Amino acid sequence: MNDGWLTSPDFTQATDPMALFATWLGDAEKSEPNDPNAMALATVDADGMPDVRMVLLKGFDADGFVFYTNFESAKGTQILGSMKAALCFHWKSLRRQVRVRGPVEIVSDAEADAYYATRPRGSRIGAWASKQSRELESRMALEKAVASYTARYAIGDIPRPAHWSGFRIKPVAIEFWHDRPFRLHDRLRFEREGDGWTTSRLYP
Ligand SMILES: Cc1cc2nc3c(=O)[nH]c(=O)nc-3n(C[C@H](O)[C@H](O)[C@H](O)COP(=O)(O)O)c2cc1C
Repeated sequence: MNDGWLTSPDFTQATDPMALFATWLGDAEKSEPNDPNAMALATVDADGMPDVRMVLLKGFDADGFVFYTNFESAKGTQILGSMKAALCFHWKSLRRQVRVRGPVEIVSDAEADAYYATRPRGSRIGAWASKQSRELESRMALEKAVASYTARYAIGDIPRPAHWSGFRIKPVAIEFWHDRPFRLHDRLRFEREGDGWTTSRLYP
């Protein structure tokens, strides 16, 4: 078992949440066996009913946290309806959690194109073939769609589908949590204030 809390440097004096996030993600890249960039993405539907699923973080900077998806999926329509979302990272072996909330913007076409171009050919075909979140009548129907788009784009570039792009969550609050003995965990919350951040420590 990794008693991460025993060796973890004190983070509660941090003043820059994105720098702290970069450090923690870097630590996770060394410790987590799979997908250190996996995060739970929470959204609400038109009735205010919450929904949640995992996605992969594909970029972050001072402007926010970016992931890519099908805009016609459940999450896509939910975000387009509210333009708000929340994220939660949990790095089990480090015993750390990061929570993010904020409004959402759509990444630029140039940014989405650049990321799409880095994806393996099979994933780019998949973006065309999968009507994500809609009912699939059989595995065969999906395989037929893959075969059909593979034939259509047999030669040359595979364009990015108009319904496939990225969302950027622009944080108004980021909370860092680290496990401590007897559930007396450390929590540090950053809240947006103008161009900067205010910080507060929270009871566990
Ligand atoms: C570790 C992990 C990473 C995933 N990453 C993505 C992703 O980056 N984009 C995406 O659209 N779906 C991703 N998925 C699939 C989603 O969890 C989900 O099944 C799918 O997007 C449909 O969600 P929706 O019906 O709520 O739109 C991932 C699943 C797992 C378990």
